[in-house]
Amino acid sequence: MALPCAGLARYLLLLAQENLEFRLPEIKSLIFLNGGQFICQQESKLNSPFWILSLLSEEMARGLMKRTVCAKSIFELWGNGRSVEELHSSLKKYPVEKMEPYLRSNFTYKIKVHAFNKTLTQQEKLERIDSLEFLPFKGKVNLKKPDHIFWFLEDYGTDPNNIPEQPFHLYFGRWIANGQRDLIESYSVKRRHFIGNTSMDACLAFIMANHGKVKTNDVVFDPFVGTGGLLIASAHFGAYVCGTDIDYSTVHGLGKASRKNQKWRGPDENIRANLRQYGLENCYLDVLVSDASKPIWRKGMKFDAIITDPPYGIREATRRTGSQKEMAKETERGTENHISISSNYHLSDILFDLLKFAAEYLVIGGRLVYWLPVYKPEYTEEIIPQHPCLKLISNCEQTLSSHTSRHLITMEKVKEFEDEDQYFHILESQYLSYKSHNSFREKYFSGVTKRIAKEEKDNQK
Ligand SMILES: C[S@@+](CC[C@H](N)C(=O)[O-])C[C@H]1O[C@@H](n2cnc3c(N)ncnc32)[C@H](O)[C@@H]1O
Repeated sequence: MALPCAGLARYLLLLAQENLEFRLPEIKSLIFLNGGQFICQQESKLNSPFWILSLLSEEMARGLMKRTVCAKSIFELWGNGRSVEELHSSLKKYPVEKMEPYLRSNFTYKIKVHAFNKTLTQQEKLERIDSLEFLPFKGKVNLKKPDHIFWFLEDYGTDPNNIPEQPFHLYFGRWIANGQRDLIESYSVKRRHFIGNTSMDACLAFIMANHGKVKTNDVVFDPFVGTGGLLIASAHFGAYVCGTDIDYSTVHGLGKASRKNQKWRGPDENIRANLRQYGLENCYLDVLVSDASKPIWRKGMKFDAIITDPPYGIREATRRTGSQKEMAKETERGTENHISISSNYHLSDILFDLLKFAAEYLVIGGRLVYWLPVYKPEYTEEIIPQHPCLKLISNCEQTLSSHTSRHLITMEKVKEFEDEDQYFHILESQYLSYKSHNSFREKYFSGVTKRIAKEEKDNQK
């Protein structure tokens, strides 16, 4: 347990009980982004919706809430305890001079009662409020538009089948700000202008931008841009965005539509129009048709973050352009493909190229955030790709099926990239271990086939 240091005040963070693994890296990254350090009093209870954080200032708490999609609200914590008595004695110890500015007679107020994992009756809520009459409130109650809102919170644990009679923990504090959970709905893929089969879910796209510590005026790049779902989240946080994709139709918004009741993509179905839909067109740099296995950037070009969802070959092809020799053959044959020839781009090569690219083209302190597909029975931490210039920051699992998952990997550039050959022997040995990723597609489909066969067998019984 970390103890708060001088100058730090205690805040209560109320988190959404979803995407649990993604919350800690998100909150840590955002606190760092706001110039603070993550100090949590209950590191062992990180699966709880309540975290007590020590922060330097209310401004830092507000900065955190301007970005988080994992947390719902933050409160200045005035007291807490494992029973009503403990809560009351903790409140009585909270310095009056810290409460007084918010309890003055010229301010109106309201107290809200919230129980997690239990529904309280109106009567029970009123009892909680009445029990706080020892607090020196001087202002009038205003339920509609109060100057200050105070919350009485109770934690009944996370097991809906085992709700205790009494709460495990009680908290009281002054509400400061809400997080950005509304973005999940307002940026929903369901209402997005241009989408594809693999458009990234809005909540995860914002989490990725937060893990990437994206900030205003950054330049963010997605080498496998698809319909630009990840660019949108970064642009919302004020970054300039650009990307590449090997698929000409995707980049130009042509071809078959991904929506159910639409056959072909309409005019202006493209990434720029997506950004325009959200009023973010000024953040659009460009997207290019290009093969990520062959970097097109001049040396010295730097990105602040690389945020991407590489192809796994499940719902999209993993392709790359062929060699000069193969292309020459194609030209002889007179093929009119936009991609002259494509050979299979193995996951091991995608990962190898992506890390190498990030090591070379990120600024120091810049982050690479990407999804890594994993066949669960064979997962060990050793299979996480490494690079001498990149430090692993977080690794969060999202389960896809009983046997597969994808891990959101965040790495930070900590060392300047020097001559490529210098890393060759280290990378070559790692590359061999990446090869285990190559069979992900076969394993994924073998699992799916087995599951379908089992379901069919069960149905026949
Ligand atoms: C998982 S999708 C990305 C989806 C994207 N995040 C979105 O929100 O729409 C992967 C993309 O990588 C592209 N791709 C496949 N091989 C590539 C390559 N060698 N270079 C660049 N893009 C490639 C595919 O065309 C596909 O659009």
